[in-house]
Amino acid sequence: MTTRKPLVVANWKMNKLPSETKEYIEKVQVTLAGQDDVETVLAGQDVLLSKMVKAARESTIAIGAENVYWQERGAYTGETSPAALEDLGVAYVIIGHSERRNYFRETDEMVNLKALAAIQHHLVPIIAIDEAIVTESEGDHVHWVVNQVIESLEGISAPDVVKLVLAYEPTAAIGSGQAMTPELAQFSLRRIRLTLADMYGWEIANQVRIMYGGSVKPTNAFELMRQPDIDGVLVGDAALDPSTFVELVQLAR
Ligand code: G3P
Repeated sequence: MTTRKPLVVANWKMNKLPSETKEYIEKVQVTLAGQDDVETVLAGQDVLLSKMVKAARESTIAIGAENVYWQERGAYTGETSPAALEDLGVAYVIIGHSERRNYFRETDEMVNLKALAAIQHHLVPIIAIDEAIVTESEGDHVHWVVNQVIESLEGISAPDVVKLVLAYEPTAAIGSGQAMTPELAQFSLRRIRLTLADMYGWEIANQVRIMYGGSVKPTNAFELMRQPDIDGVLVGDAALDPSTFVELVQLAR
């Protein structure tokens, strides 16, 4: 049987200042000291990353970026190189978050290029898969989700796909306070795993970690994470408070 290590990822989005990072990380670190049965990741905007990496250096907390470009160097004003993230000690990068897809017009093709570049630079891509319609009926939304998985993973080999993470985030659940029901989330994640099985076979599909994101909080996290295909949670608002984030990590073990 495959065991997938649970992971809890905080996506700070554009909500923290450089001066606020150290205290947050110290609080999390003190409470989680010595515990590494749950992978714990904090993702912040680029301007915070060097402080975050420094503050988390002696801990089991990994640091993630919220975006990356696919070129390593060159005249791409304002973009972030995957080589620079690697050099800084960043370990993860969120790619294709629904906010990037919707506000910055990121396509599956761009997501794919970013994922390939991240892998090349030993960053773990957390590829976000969004969904506009929340319903259990088979139909267009299934096609939408399946397509994102297929196109985002184009050209990614089996040994690389087992190292990356997929994060399913239904748009209506993001920042709304209304998470998807655990059953519906399980249904959607199962669909993603079936797609992985079609692409890579079950042995590989069963090793890939898939997370749920969208209004996760301590009151719903346990039920969500108990679902067989949900390996972790990607958390926005609730993770802005370090004590709540720690609570979520404890619920994941
Ligand atoms: O990436 C996390 C996210 O989009 C969910 O945000 O605030 O609903 O937990 P939130």
